Amino acid sequence: MAFSSQQLTLISIAIASALLLLTPQTIAQSTAAAPSPSGPANLTGILDKNGQYTTFIRLLEETQVANQIENQLNSSTEGMTVLAPTDNAFDNLKAGTLNSLATQQQVELVLYHVMSKYYSFAMLQTVSNPVRTQATGQDGGAFGLNFTSLAGQTNQVNVTTGVVETEISNALYQTFPLAVYQVDKVLLPEELFGNKTSTSSPPPSPSTVASSLSNSSSKAASPTSSDNNNAASGGRNFGLGLVVGIVLSSCMGFLF
Ligand SMILES: *[C@@H]1O[C@H](CO)[C@@H](O)[C@H](O)[C@H]1NC(C)=O
Ligand SMILES: *[C@@H]1O[C@H](CO)[C@@H](O)[C@H](O)[C@H]1NC(C)=O
Ligand SMILES: *[C@@H]1O[C@H](CO)[C@@H](O)[C@H](O)[C@H]1NC(C)=O
Ligand SMILES: *[C@@H]1O[C@H](CO)[C@@H](O)[C@H](O)[C@H]1NC(C)=O
Ligand SMILES: *[C@@H]1O[C@H](CO)[C@@H](O)[C@H](O)[C@H]1NC(C)=O
Ligand SMILES: *[C@@H]1O[C@H](CO)[C@@H](O)[C@H](O)[C@H]1NC(C)=O
Repeated sequence: MAFSSQQLTLISIAIASALLLLTPQTIAQSTAAAPSPSGPANLTGILDKNGQYTTFIRLLEETQVANQIENQLNSSTEGMTVLAPTDNAFDNLKAGTLNSLATQQQVELVLYHVMSKYYSFAMLQTVSNPVRTQATGQDGGAFGLNFTSLAGQTNQVNVTTGVVETEISNALYQTFPLAVYQVDKVLLPEELFGNKTSTSSPPPSPSTVASSLSNSSSKAASPTSSDNNNAASGGRNFGLGLVVGIVLSSCMGFLF
């Protein structure tokens, strides 16, 4: 088969740029950057290794929060902290507790165990309360956790939600950007499990009603669904990446 002169030009341009990229300087740089020993911190991998977090891992995966955390760890400059309840902790919940939660409430429950900042054990002892978690209510306010320690006790921190209090004793992983601690109780947010009488679901907001009544094309603009679907963004990003990848590779195929 023969190449047209246009194809030959393209090919020689490609070879020339490949040669340019391989100057001694860039080779030196790439070997210098090569030794990045451990990959990014892998939350489910860390939990998996310890063997007693199967329920929490399942929830992290079912709610897509595991993906979300992985994405955030890649881009976050603040790091993250996860409080991981043991299987025992889930077993000790009142029967039906998890199943009584709607899907979105399960997402909030998992996110309540995740903070968007790296806290070493020593930092937890002096952090100012309440500490924001990634769980948020319908008003957008973050659910908080309080950390307490007795003066002079360097090895103990308690965490309280207002509904449950438990001790944080065991750091499973403590290397920036990720800190993971074991908790022996599931942290139940007061916003979902407090015995306030006002927890019955609020009436739909006027804008939701309006958008469900109108059969114009604006269904997707319903504010509650876009606010609450943080957990889905991992999937969306992945989809976008896939599309970009396909577009790129078909461009390459077209050129050569
Ligand atoms: C994280 O660890 C889990 C369990 O060991 C594994 O299935 C998964 O592929 C790992 N993810 C990454 C990004 O390494
Ligand atoms: C995070 O970054 C690593 C390499 O830096 C990459 O392998 C991994 O796919 C990324 N994960 C996500 C969810 O973007
Ligand atoms: C958490 O700490 C804040 C600030 O000290 C306090 O106002 C709040 O009542 C505490 N909440 C719980 C559940 O202890
Ligand atoms: C921490 O919580 C435990 C119960 O889980 C309690 O016995 C202990 O007194 C608490 N410690 C502090 C400093 O509040
Ligand atoms: C929750 O119930 C307990 C005991 O039944 C009560 O002492 C407490 O005041 C209640 N809290 C709220 C916020 O209603
Ligand atoms: C809504 O849909 C109905 C039938 O599906 C149609 O007759 C009506 O014109 C639509 N109204 C608007 C505002 O699009």
